[in-house]
Amino acid sequence: MKKTAILFACTGGPRMDNLGPRLIAILALFAAVAAATVGSALAQTATQPTSPPPMTTAQPAAHPPLPYQVTDKSMGVVNCANSLCHGSVQPFKDSNVLQTEYVTWSRVDKHARAYKVLFNEQSARIARNLGLGNAAEAKVCLDCHAHNVVKAQRGERFKFDDGVSCEACHGPSERWLPKHVEDGAKHAGNLAAGLFPTDDPAERARLCLSCHFGNADRFVTHRIMGAGHPRLSFELETFTTVEPAHFKIDSDWEQRKRLWDGVKVWAIGQTLAVSEMMDLLTDPKRGHDGLFPELVLFDCHACHHPMSEKRWAPRIPGLGPGVVRLNDSSMLMVRAIARVVDPELGNRIVSRMNQLQQTVTGGGDAIGTARSLKADVAQLTAELDQRTLTAADMRGVLAALVDEGLNGQFRDYAGAEQATMAIGSVTNFMYQKGILKSARDINGGLANLQAAVANDERYSPGQFETALRNFRGTVGL
Ligand code: HEC
Ligand code: HEC
Ligand code: HEC
Ligand code: HEC
Repeated sequence: MKKTAILFACTGGPRMDNLGPRLIAILALFAAVAAATVGSALAQTATQPTSPPPMTTAQPAAHPPLPYQVTDKSMGVVNCANSLCHGSVQPFKDSNVLQTEYVTWSRVDKHARAYKVLFNEQSARIARNLGLGNAAEAKVCLDCHAHNVVKAQRGERFKFDDGVSCEACHGPSERWLPKHVEDGAKHAGNLAAGLFPTDDPAERARLCLSCHFGNADRFVTHRIMGAGHPRLSFELETFTTVEPAHFKIDSDWEQRKRLWDGVKVWAIGQTLAVSEMMDLLTDPKRGHDGLFPELVLFDCHACHHPMSEKRWAPRIPGLGPGVVRLNDSSMLMVRAIARVVDPELGNRIVSRMNQLQQTVTGGGDAIGTARSLKADVAQLTAELDQRTLTAADMRGVLAALVDEGLNGQFRDYAGAEQATMAIGSVTNFMYQKGILKSARDINGGLANLQAAVANDERYSPGQFETALRNFRGTVGL
């Protein structure tokens, strides 16, 4: 029974990370708002700025380079950390920005210690298993766990020790650092001097996904996972909230930057995630590992679950039992979004997704289908960009997510995990806007969903569906 041993060894081997802390943080957010400051929190979003720019995203053709692709010098976190700059312990009263960003980042944001984890036991094991020597010196690790720019682009006070530093997200600051402290400095001027547009949802998604999913330059392969790297999963709005955010969205922020719509941020994050996945699938360097396709693009738990658990049930048309499925968690979110934004496009996306899954067993043109799906999803992103989501749209998306689940689409853990983050983000924003009222009910409903995905190895689709049904009842969808 050698095969049995392999699969049991996988499930009994290094645990794949679960989600607990992230979703709890979302719930804590509700609790805090509900407990004390409902009035003032809502007032904040109620006062609309006079003429804020719409929440549009940059044109695809005009993508700014990601921070690691810029050739300006990176000056180091120490330049931001002064208590008169971004290192204040208390927010400044008469300032646009909090000024506490450094304190938040250095004390509670995991990015500040992303480089230091390369010295821990887990990293040593990963590096040993891959024959890499020292993880803290390996380019493959440094690319995501630090701001790994070449020597010539490091200012005198640049330190690797800063991990995923301010400049790893906001862009190398050689040109914008002096500019953004000038009297009357404006966001547009800072952007022109090389500040990365983190306020643009699509660009932010591209930035975060470059490390939290991977791109053509950097990627956590199944070999790296097999060596002991935690499983990656990402949702833009949830992760922005629990990082935790070192900025506050209020009318001043919206005036200076753009209108903020948490549901759109979530939706655009998902369309970009599908697009990045299609790029990797069609990339001959990344999509394969020798004879095998790159397993990281597939549903981890399709292979990693005990054989005694007979859990297969039909879900994807044309895909019978015993077939490995692509990880379609973000595709499932995208199709719930499309059902509301453009139902006809939604139907096309659903049939392309089914076609793509069917190509896993050899039928059809995998590369062509992936490219077509990417084009459809780009169209959806553009439509989302142009559209103002109404309360009815948001309810529709929430209902579509619940329906996908009740139709059995979240039988795989990755889908259920992504749906839980999605439902958290959508309800969170609807609550902030006063569209959903009872924080206690919402929290109860979210807690049930969260409990059902708390442990990927003990995931039960039945329990998740019950939690979805209860959620629909309490929220009144
Ligand atoms: C494509 C980007 C990427 C690459 C390449 C990468 N990592 Fe990671 N790593 C991440 C992300 C993102 C996380 C956080 C995952 C999460 O919590 O969602 C992480 C988490 C970890 C953790 C767990 C940290 C903790 O706080 O528990 C360790 C250890 C780790 N990585 C080590 C390594 C090593 C060693 C390498 C090189 C072999 C490496 N990583 C390569 C992106 C990457
Ligand atoms: C993981 C990525 C990331 C890192 C690391 C990061 N930021 Fe940010 N930062 C963001 C995002 C996302 C926003 C919100 C969008 C925006 O306002 O542009 C933001 C916003 C800001 C703002 C603007 C707030 C406002 O109201 O306009 C300041 C100032 C800021 N960050 C400073 C810092 C400093 C200082 C550091 C380092 C100590 C840092 N950031 C590290 C992602 C990051
Ligand atoms: C340069 C690579 C890089 C970029 C860009 C990046 N991250 Fe990360 N992120 C990491 C790594 C590496 C970790 C794991 C750090 C650790 O655990 O020590 C991490 C951890 C996190 C965590 C903590 C996850 C957990 O399990 O607790 C959150 C939340 C997060 N990132 C959000 C974001 C968001 C939002 C963005 C985009 C604005 C972003 N990240 C951009 C590399 C990156
Ligand atoms: C097509 C099936 C398949 C898929 C999909 C798959 N794996 Fe694996 N995985 C394997 C096989 C086979 C091994 C090697 C087992 C061994 O060495 O005993 C393995 C090994 C591992 C190991 C090391 C286990 C050990 O005992 O040391 C980890 C961790 C792991 N995979 C994580 C993942 C993650 C995370 C994903 C999804 C991103 C994933 N796998 C997707 C088949 C798969």
